[in-house]
Amino acid sequence: MSDTLDITENKLKVTAITYENGSSPLKVSEVDLPVQEKTIVKPTEVLVQVKATSLNPVDTILKQFSNSYFGPKQKIIGGDFSGIVVKAGDKTSLKVGDKVYGDLLTLTKQGSCSNFVIFEPEKILVCEKIPDNMSFEQAASLPCVSNTAFQALKKYSGNLKDKNVLVLGAGTAVGCFSVQFARHYFEAANVVATCSSKSTEKTEKSGATLTVDYTKGEQFKYDQLLGFVKSHGKFDLIVDCVRDESVMDHFDSLLKPATEQGVFAQVTGSYLLDYSDVKLSNLLPSWKRISSGFKTSFGFSKYAYAPVRTSRDAEYGSAIAKLWKEKKLEIFFDSQYDAYTGFKEAFDRVASCSAQGKVILKF
Ligand SMILES: NC(=O)c1ccc[n+]([C@@H]2O[C@H](COP(=O)([O-])OP(=O)(O)OC[C@H]3O[C@@H](n4cnc5c(N)ncnc54)[C@H](OP(=O)(O)O)[C@@H]3O)[C@@H](O)[C@H]2O)c1
Repeated sequence: MSDTLDITENKLKVTAITYENGSSPLKVSEVDLPVQEKTIVKPTEVLVQVKATSLNPVDTILKQFSNSYFGPKQKIIGGDFSGIVVKAGDKTSLKVGDKVYGDLLTLTKQGSCSNFVIFEPEKILVCEKIPDNMSFEQAASLPCVSNTAFQALKKYSGNLKDKNVLVLGAGTAVGCFSVQFARHYFEAANVVATCSSKSTEKTEKSGATLTVDYTKGEQFKYDQLLGFVKSHGKFDLIVDCVRDESVMDHFDSLLKPATEQGVFAQVTGSYLLDYSDVKLSNLLPSWKRISSGFKTSFGFSKYAYAPVRTSRDAEYGSAIAKLWKEKKLEIFFDSQYDAYTGFKEAFDRVASCSAQGKVILKF
């Protein structure tokens, strides 16, 4: 694909992975993006040549719920990206040549799976400079999942140093970064993580002090967790990456109450851990979750409940840079594909919810 800008009549031609609605297939298309007449970008915008994107369950879910009447006709899929700034408006803090990573995901604008993207760095969910010696593929792996993990850890209102954290679903990319932030950034004493045997090595490398194989059944899982609590005390923070709400029935034995700053932080997402055919009912919060949220808001609950999602956060970029510099950030890949020939396989891999790390498209 061409690296040079193809602009005619204030339209930049990009080559992107697109779809029209939930049932239309993904395909490679040429899309015209409107640009400014002389400057190409507005003062608050940048134009970035994309080098890599990573795929997330939310990309497949947004596609399933999209229709032909809402948003652009040809919708560019994806949120996460990394690349090089090739044009920068004079009101942004970025300059030409900067290497950046970010998350473009919104319901109304074009996504990231394209050879060029235009956006306002101060407004999108995540936009950070790539730390030295981090590859484009590594940087593209970060935004959505590691930012969500960071938000989950920040639901604990006190200092997590020397505290106990439980991560449910540590085999997910969000879970894997939650373990890393908990141990290496917030310096929790103990991070217990549930994952399958396939993900144990990755989870231990991330810093988990104990892994519990959830595939061995509920009884096994709770026996292990109760064994931990008996010797180390209850958890100060539980991060649930897979909507494992059965844990809510065991709060009395596992989680410190809100009066002792205990928090149950739940990543919002699908109950169904197969994203190829997610229904609205799979995404809606359960009654258990809604009532816990209300009770927490009105101070009626013994336990604090906090929903978690990706958010703009001034501390996030420096937290990533710190861990990377200290060589405490592990980025795991499941697979990498050429964007224009491997996108179908890559999206199927993410939709299956069995990726053992991030799935990357290279541009
Ligand atoms: N709201 C937000 O802003 C936001 C942002 C990011 C992600 N999310 C949500 O967070 C969830 C995780 O996303 P992700 O991208 O991190 O996932 P992912 O990396 O695609 O997750 C894949 C992993 O899920 C694990 N898994 C599969 N079935 C499981 C089960 N029944 N119980 C426990 N683990 C299971 C597997 O690990 P094992 O080997 O351990 O089975 C697999 O390796 C999704 O629901 C996503 O939509 C929400």
